[in-house]
Amino acid sequence: MTGINVKAWINEISADGVTLQQSQNAYIKWADKYDEDLENHAFTGPKKVAQIVRDKLSNQRPENVRILDVAAGTGLVAKELREFGFRHIDALEPSEAMLKEAKKAHLYENYFIEYISQSQTTISENSYDVVTGSGLYANEAHVPCEALYEMIRLVKPGGLIVLCGRNHLLNDSETYKRLEPLMNKLESDQKWKKVSREIWPGYLKGIDGVAWCYQVL
Ligand SMILES: C[S@@+](CC[C@H](N)C(=O)[O-])C[C@H]1O[C@@H](n2cnc3c(N)ncnc32)[C@H](O)[C@@H]1O
Repeated sequence: MTGINVKAWINEISADGVTLQQSQNAYIKWADKYDEDLENHAFTGPKKVAQIVRDKLSNQRPENVRILDVAAGTGLVAKELREFGFRHIDALEPSEAMLKEAKKAHLYENYFIEYISQSQTTISENSYDVVTGSGLYANEAHVPCEALYEMIRLVKPGGLIVLCGRNHLLNDSETYKRLEPLMNKLESDQKWKKVSREIWPGYLKGIDGVAWCYQVL
């Protein structure tokens, strides 16, 4: 696998109709080259998420903050959070191959090898100050919109949920057309409130990103 194939890989893991099994098989094959490939394509999602967490929690000591990184992959978000002094970071990720890379670099404290969806994970409610997620939305073989309910359950009242992905998916993906309407519904249901929403160029080369920060109520 070489760095020039990221767009082909994005299609392989996320094109409409790709099954969960196909997507997960692609991550098994990609895991040991994932970081290198995405570095070559100037992937900025993990840094954006970490910067938002740092900025919104500037009044807290990073070593006191407990974070769950969902769809953690090889641990790029934890790498960035660690640069800002965050230490207590757990990973939730179904792909053992991707997590193997994170484990090599000792990026997380605990590893939950599971999917997130609307159903409850094995993790107790109100366990974290922050849930993060970068690149977690790609198609129905990735994190479903309704997993927001579970993220909210896992975060303490007053805590943050900080997520990012490719902006065009909000229009182009039948699955993720429903994401922001659900985010808005959760706000009108007083489950959380929006702190920020940002679109920035260069999520990947030539692709805009969108990042959200919500506070759990
Ligand atoms: C594009 S990678 C993003 C990894 C990392 N967050 C990053 O920014 O580099 C997407 C990850 O989502 C994981 N994934 C897919 N479906 C998931 C689900 N329902 N729950 C949790 N993780 C999931 C995949 O196994 C894959 O590692």
